Formats: sequence, C-alpha cells, structure tokens
Amino acid sequence: MSFKTNFTKTLCVAASLLFLATVDADAKRFKIAVGDAAGGTQDALGKKFVELLKAKTSHSAKLFHNGQLGSEQDTVNDAALGTLDMSILAINNITPFSPTVGVFTLPYVILSLDDAVKLTQGDVGQELIANTIRDAKVRIIGWAYSGFRVLTNSKKPVRSVADLKGLVIRVPKNAIMLDTYKSWGINATPMAWSETFTGLQQKVVDGQDNPYITVHAMKFYEVQKYVTNVRYLFSIEPLIISESIFQGLSEGDRKAILEAGKEATLYSAQYLRDSEAAIKKDLQAKGMQIDDPADGEKEFIERATKAVWPKFYESIGGKEKLDKVLAILGRG
Ligand code: MLT
Repeated sequence: MSFKTNFTKTLCVAASLLFLATVDADAKRFKIAVGDAAGGTQDALGKKFVELLKAKTSHSAKLFHNGQLGSEQDTVNDAALGTLDMSILAINNITPFSPTVGVFTLPYVILSLDDAVKLTQGDVGQELIANTIRDAKVRIIGWAYSGFRVLTNSKKPVRSVADLKGLVIRVPKNAIMLDTYKSWGINATPMAWSETFTGLQQKVVDGQDNPYITVHAMKFYEVQKYVTNVRYLFSIEPLIISESIFQGLSEGDRKAILEAGKEATLYSAQYLRDSEAAIKKDLQAKGMQIDDPADGEKEFIERATKAVWPKFYESIGGKEKLDKVLAILGRG
C-alpha cells in the first residue's frame, strides 16, 4: 500500500471519529422529573414521550420518579431557571406560577375525559400554553389525563359535606383547592406532594384527593381505607420543558419534541380509558371502601361553584374566560 493511500485512509478514519464525537457532543440526555411513582398516568405519558423522542431525534431522556428531582412546584422553578430540562406534574402545581391555568383547576368545570381533551387540544389549551411560557418560563408540550381526584381518608366513610367535619385533609399548595374545601366547611392542610405519603402514614393528615390511578401508583391503599367519588377536579398533568432549553434546540428538534408530546398525549387519553376501571377494582380488592356522595354530589357542587368560581374570575383572566370554557363544553 502506497504512502498516499495510507495517508488518505488515516485521514478518513480521523474524520469519521471527529464526526462521531461531534454527533455525540450534540446529543442531549434530558432529565424529566416525575412527581408520582412509576405505574401511573405521569409515568405512562413520560415513557411514551421518551420512546418517541428517541425515535424522532438524536436525543434521549430519562424519567426520575417520586419527586427525586424535587417537589412538583419546585420543578417548575428549576425548569424556569434552566437547571432542569422537563417535568411531569399535576396542573394544580403549575397554577401558582401561571394563574390563568387555574381555569382547569376550578371545581366542577371539567366533567369528563372528553371535556379535558377538548379544552387542552383546542384554542383554550393553546392560549394557556402561551400564558405559561410568558408567566412561568416553561412550555407545556404534552398532557397526561389522570381522571377525577377522588377523596381518600383513613378514618370514616364520607358521603356528604357534613361527613367531612373532623377530617384533616391534605391539599396541594393551591389557593383554588384550599378554597374549595373551605366552601365545604373545612380548612384543608397545604402540603407538598413529595411529603404526602409520609404525612398520611404518620397521621399528620387523615386524607387527601387524587385520581384512582395515582392512589394506586402511590400505594395509598396501604395508609387509606375510604374513598369518596367526588368529581370536583379532573386531573390533568402536563409535561413541561424549560423554555430557555427548548429555544436552544434546532428547529427540527423543536418540531420533533412538539410532535412527540402530542402523540404521547393521545396515548395518555387511551391509557386512562384502558386502565382506570381495572385499577379501581384492584383498590377494592386491596381493601378500600368506595362510596358515592349520597345526594348525587349536589351539595358539594352547589357550595363549591357558588363560593369559588367568582373568587378566581380575576386570576383566570376574567369571568368571560370561564364563560368561554363552559360554552366550548356545551354548558354556556
Ligand atoms: C398533588 O396532589 O400535588 C398532585 O396531584 C400529585 C400528582 O402529581 O399526582
């Protein structure tokens, strides 16, 4: 082999190595904070997103469950600062940073999975995404749908507003939820999600509310006995990305990430449809007692909507925002 051929070969190998090094250097490994344990709706959305991201880009991502990267509300701050890439968390933990999102936390506005899909996938969802970028510096790129937040407690069956008396109920640090419980006659205890299991286990609080799938994933059946099917809040759990990190990506990557988020969202809706009933049954098999409000929830609904809606008109952007949402849902 001539000196020239050898030299050319060496050059080619060096160029390929340099190319590979460049590709590797560009490939990111995103960290995604997940508030819940594995096995819930956050996990389902997250896993699907990770799979799609890998298929559509040169990047990868890893889920960190159970609040390993901080409490849900802290992860919004961290993503805003760009010290965390992404997080999947309940919408009620975004509201304190982006108040107009509160329209999705108002009691008895979203009354089904179809309502949730319609709102998040339409103009209202787009407006709230833009507001959240403006107010909280994070971008919602996907939505997990988790079902209604049912009330659980360790002490007694709750079938009426009056039954709540004497119970210490944990809620997220969310003004709308605190006021909802106030309308039902009790002062709930605000507590970070990451502290909730221990709070229930050590009986600092008697109960809490979260969707069936979350109650199951978090093994709350080990420390809670009674469930009440209240439907005041349909839990939506967005996947957010730091806006500064998003803007630092190529146009192709940004497009792929939005597509991956959208496809993972559709998957999440199907996951809820496919799994909620079986999970409810399993919770009963594990010893939980499930009750419905005795009056068809009439008193819960009347008290909450009357006291809470008007109080938050201003923070959600005016009464007309709620009117618009109700009209879209055919209840205007
Ligand atoms: C909360 O109760 O703080 C959240 O809904 C928990 C969750 O993200 O599942």
